[in-house]
Amino acid sequence: MRLVLRTYRAPLRMTTLAIALVALTLFVHHRANDPAQVAASLDRAQNGLAVVSAISAALVAVLSAVQWIDVLRPPAPLISGERVVLRPLGRRDGPALARTIDQAVLDENRLPPDTAEQAKRLVRRTAVANWAAICDASSGDVVGVVTMEFDEPRRNATLGIWIGPGHRGKGYASGTTAAAARLARGMGYDTTALTSQANTAMQRALERGGFVRTGTVEHVFDTGEVIEAIRFEHRGVADAAG
Ligand SMILES: CC(C)(COP(=O)(O)OP(=O)(O)OC[C@H]1O[C@@H](n2cnc3c(N)ncnc32)[C@H](O)[C@@H]1OP(=O)(O)O)[C@@H](O)C(=O)NCCC(=O)NCCS
Repeated sequence: MRLVLRTYRAPLRMTTLAIALVALTLFVHHRANDPAQVAASLDRAQNGLAVVSAISAALVAVLSAVQWIDVLRPPAPLISGERVVLRPLGRRDGPALARTIDQAVLDENRLPPDTAEQAKRLVRRTAVANWAAICDASSGDVVGVVTMEFDEPRRNATLGIWIGPGHRGKGYASGTTAAAARLARGMGYDTTALTSQANTAMQRALERGGFVRTGTVEHVFDTGEVIEAIRFEHRGVADAAG
């Protein structure tokens, strides 16, 4: 609503000003008790208001078109690599985002079964906090999601990744770990990641992105389930260019 008001502030102000001017002129002539002047003023006011309305309507149409084009255009990249481009999720990404969430993603992250539908709705309305789209660097297609939780006092970003079922095994996760660490480093943050002992694909993707194992930690999911997770830390050198 605030955005709508801000966008249409100029035409709204123009119309309000025109109406105020007309009202003032009529008031002045009315007070002067001059019926001919009042009639002439009413005539001029009618023409003037018609012109102002037409200009305002044209302005509103142009502003609406600009806003619509903005919605259609994918948001600007946060960072680009050879394999992937990471960018904020746009309002049109809902269906593509939902397609990246399958049972493996739900299981690995202990997410409820309606996550895909919820994500679709959320993206339509607003950005999902800390989620960014992983896009193929050539086609721009959304292939997965990267999550980065920024811990400001510790200057640490915790990385999470999933790749859609049709896109796995093509190097997207490896490219993303490298690019995300580079992004965080540029913002003055270290990057860490946790993964389950069984998730060898994610472990390998982290290593390919320049992460090293630093031990194991207890990880508590939102569901309350506790696992012994492997902790990774980025040490700067990556053999994947992202
Ligand atoms: C784990 C996941 C992110 C990996 O993404 P990906 O894009 O397929 O990974 P990459 O293509 O970059 O491959 C990374 C490495 O894993 C290997 N790999 C890929 N799929 C694998 C699988 N199913 N089993 C074992 N290794 C696998 C690749 O060969 C590659 O190793 P290499 O460099 O030695 O060849 C993806 O499978 C996924 O989203 N899974 C479901 C959700 C999930 O587990 N998220 C991680 C939570 S911590």
